[in-house]
Amino acid sequence: MEVVIVPDAAAGGEIVAEAMARLVRRKPDAVLGVATGSTPLPVYEALATKVRSGAVDVSRARIAQLDEYVGLPADHPESYRSVLRREVLEPLGVAMDQFLGPDGTADDVQAACEAYDAALAAAGGVDLQLLGIGTDGHIGFNEPCSSLASRTRIKTLTEQTRVDNARFFDGDIEQVPHHVITQGIGTILEARHLVLLATGEGKADAVAASVEGPVASVCPASALQLHPHATVVVDEAAASKLKLADYFRHTYANKPDWQGI
Ligand code: GLP
Repeated sequence: MEVVIVPDAAAGGEIVAEAMARLVRRKPDAVLGVATGSTPLPVYEALATKVRSGAVDVSRARIAQLDEYVGLPADHPESYRSVLRREVLEPLGVAMDQFLGPDGTADDVQAACEAYDAALAAAGGVDLQLLGIGTDGHIGFNEPCSSLASRTRIKTLTEQTRVDNARFFDGDIEQVPHHVITQGIGTILEARHLVLLATGEGKADAVAASVEGPVASVCPASALQLHPHATVVVDEAAASKLKLADYFRHTYANKPDWQGI
């Protein structure tokens, strides 16, 4: 995998947004897989700036959701569908009928999961999947010891993840659902390009385990090592526990610009 160390979150956002813009210029109806959480926000802001300046038109792109809470009404402000509408689709000018996501309110959750995997396949698969990382190394909501071959399915959140996400629910952990639907690790690995973005010291251990540790389900993001085109973009703080940081800096500094990430 390629590791790109950037000075700060804004620089990381710009690099990832530029990769998305290049993709959409080449393939206007590309499927962009997007993540929630605080980390990807600079990406969406940088891409929206490019849209407003006319540098790229993403209006034909399709936007695919990574994960969703089970049981929150779709119009709940913290359902990931609502979050992505607010933070991604509206600023980018993408219509909701180009949005792909699982139904977190379905009575038959398993059928909803299977329907989502089928919808992703029918759309031609995800071209670029943006990922954040949990403090425990989760991607999407694939908590530690998720099968590396897993498909989209229901998962139970760890208490740590519920604590981490309580900030979106007025700091009240009781409001954070226990169950979620997440693209499986096997599903995520089918995207043509995986881009994991991590910023801040709190992610340094998870980043080091994912990049330099063994491939192991106890650290779900380590599955990126199995992917032929995986890029990890980290700021200095998130990179602070990487033993090979100087090597990663050297290779990126000497990379031809036309290649992108
Ligand atoms: C949630 C999301 C993940 C995200 C993680 C980290 O658990 N399901 O997709 O990567 O939070 O969020 P943040 O970027 O806010 O640290």
